Amino acid sequence: MKSSPRWFTETPQSNSQRYVERFRHLAASGVDLDGEARLIDAMVGRHARILDAGCGSGRTAAALFSRGHVVVGVDIDATLVAAAREDYPGPKWVVADLVDFDLPAHGYAEGFDIVVSAGNVLSYVEVGTEVQVLERLHAHLKPAGRAVIGFQIDRYAIADFDRHVNLAGFVLEQRFATWDLQPWSASAEFAVSILRKP
Ligand SMILES: C[S@@+](CC[C@H](N)C(=O)[O-])C[C@H]1O[C@@H](n2cnc3c(N)ncnc32)[C@H](O)[C@@H]1O
Repeated sequence: MKSSPRWFTETPQSNSQRYVERFRHLAASGVDLDGEARLIDAMVGRHARILDAGCGSGRTAAALFSRGHVVVGVDIDATLVAAAREDYPGPKWVVADLVDFDLPAHGYAEGFDIVVSAGNVLSYVEVGTEVQVLERLHAHLKPAGRAVIGFQIDRYAIADFDRHVNLAGFVLEQRFATWDLQPWSASAEFAVSILRKP
């Protein structure tokens, strides 16, 4: 592990297991956990190559796999990835730091059509590593590929994000306030940004 994500430094050690149990309970209760996946599915052709960056315990990657896509989920939290492997066979699961991950070294040589990063991943990386993370996402995309990134803006200022996006070589194409595409406004608490690799 190269970085110290806020996911670890700002939460108790029991956080990962509690997160797994919370999402297992929500899934068993029939709560809709697939909203982000439905948006991504609508943005790509069939059998697309999709990278779930910061996949957690796997809900979004699994929903995309069930729609016929080729999906790789990457996360630094080994507890969450172990739960993803157990609960959702199908996607490929990789424990790695988004700061320096390299999927070709794991045998996944081909680039991705789209990256999804749902549920506050970028606002839980180590402060100061955001550009590196965005650069790694950019490097794993095919030319003209897109990245869709959602986070609460009280944890990561949108002006900082926009600066980091440009430094990493992305172009911001669209922004919404929710994953069901409610309009973005200055009073929004959440941002869903669609970035393009030019
Ligand atoms: C709030 S969880 C969201 C998980 C999942 N995307 C979801 O929506 O259910 C944030 C995730 O970001 C991951 N994360 C934070 N920094 C990371 C890094 N540097 N490398 C890989 N994963 C990271 C954490 O391990 C955690 O799984």
